Amino acid sequence: MNFLEERIKKDGKVLSEHVLKVDSFLNHQIDPNLMLEIGKEFAARFANEGITKIVTIESSGIAPAVMTGLILKVPVVFARKRKSLTLNGDLLTASVHSFTKNETNEISISKKYVNKEDRVLIIDDFLANGQAALGLVEIVQQSGAEVSGIGIVIEKSFQQGAQIVTKQGHRVESIARIASLKNGEVTFINEKVEELV
Ligand code: G4P
Repeated sequence: MNFLEERIKKDGKVLSEHVLKVDSFLNHQIDPNLMLEIGKEFAARFANEGITKIVTIESSGIAPAVMTGLILKVPVVFARKRKSLTLNGDLLTASVHSFTKNETNEISISKKYVNKEDRVLIIDDFLANGQAALGLVEIVQQSGAEVSGIGIVIEKSFQQGAQIVTKQGHRVESIARIASLKNGEVTFINEKVEELV
């Protein structure tokens, strides 16, 4: 188990077979030291990709994205889910449906901040059904920039997202990969492999 998987075992709460609560360290109260480690991990994994920009989505993607941007020394742009008073003019938009929350959001970023010279790393906190990741890929591609990879803090590998996004030809790097949340317990992909060895 890596540092994040250990923390999930320690402080994560399994709410159902589909939902893991991590609000004590990741998406409500935030542990800045853990976030910095996450940023270093993404920066190391994508060090050779010539990343020029990070794109994420509000709100829980912002913290890991900023830490990664800090280490890679590149700006971070976050897609908004609601219209902003000041975000107007030329926007790139995509429609993102959340199966978990049963709602659809129009997500947008300003054309000013991502362009065809950019090599973009997309970062998000969870990868479940892949809809947010696909929406971000769509926006980045509209700008003419290249998607150089997708960094995910927690991948729920028992859902379709990772497979769908990988099939589209994108490199997905997830720090924690959850195989199952059955019986109130978190089981990681690596743990399963370790058991077999
Ligand atoms: P998808 O984008 O991969 O298809 O995922 P999905 O629609 O299922 O997820 C929508 C929202 O639910 C996202 O947050 C995502 O982070 C969150 N989510 C998905 N699975 C889990 C889970 O097991 N535990 C927790 N805690 N969250 C989960 P969001 O609506 O964008 O919220 P936020 O970023 O503003 O916090």
